[in-house]
Amino acid sequence: MTLSAPVIRTRKRRHGDAPLVMVTAYDEPGARFADAAGVDMILVGDSVANVVLGHADTLHVTLEEMCHHVRAVAAASPRAFIVADMPWLTYHLGPHEAARNAGALIRAGAQSVKLEGGRVRQQAVRAILDAEIPVMGHLGLTPQSVLAFGGFKVQAKTHEAAEMLIKDAAVLQDEGVFAMVVEGVPSLVGSLVTEALEIPTIGIGAGPDTDGQVLVYHDLLGLTGKTPAKFVRSYADVGPVIVDALSRFAADVRSGAFPNASEAYANPDDLHR
Ligand code: KIV
Repeated sequence: MTLSAPVIRTRKRRHGDAPLVMVTAYDEPGARFADAAGVDMILVGDSVANVVLGHADTLHVTLEEMCHHVRAVAAASPRAFIVADMPWLTYHLGPHEAARNAGALIRAGAQSVKLEGGRVRQQAVRAILDAEIPVMGHLGLTPQSVLAFGGFKVQAKTHEAAEMLIKDAAVLQDEGVFAMVVEGVPSLVGSLVTEALEIPTIGIGAGPDTDGQVLVYHDLLGLTGKTPAKFVRSYADVGPVIVDALSRFAADVRSGAFPNASEAYANPDDLHR
């Protein structure tokens, strides 16, 4: 079945549905590989700031840069449903601007947008939905709040904070978001918010009970060169494979072994030195 926001909205494990699979991608080959693997959703995440553009956090990626990456992902024409992150400060300055900026991501090729925060984002969510654009929410360890949180810290660790998160999730659900990313919370909170919502939850560092899971492409493939966070499972260690291939290329160029005759175009008979 082709996935769309209305279809994804109904997907709950408690209804017997299979867990939703989402992975980030930031370019055409990444989207092609993700699609070939059969993922349900491709997230053009603002994590592109950290894992591709070399920033320390996601606050430094712009709308124009996000549109550039969304266009590259959309160029793969994936079967998977494309979600694009709204970067920091593109939905904080008023509903009108939020809808306009979400529209730019849709025109770049996304099929929905994701934004971070709870009830404080209600007006922005409403304006984007009014523009007929599906919205995915994102609660918990919201990376765009890194300065406000004082670091990348697990959230909802107290009873009160967990209740607040669940209330925020319900407000956004009632507003009309079609799914909710829940990041960096204790497993029980991931479980409770999943039970509380009718829309699917997509967890990242939120334990095993959410309705789906998302990981960052470069994390799960071992492309970051860094020790992965606790919640990441490394499915491959591609970084060293790349270094090995590039080292062998460099050695072959330096020794004259590359290119050989079969890797060069044949000379025409009438062309002489
Ligand atoms: O930008 C991103 O990769 C994300 C995921 C961590 C959910 O928002």
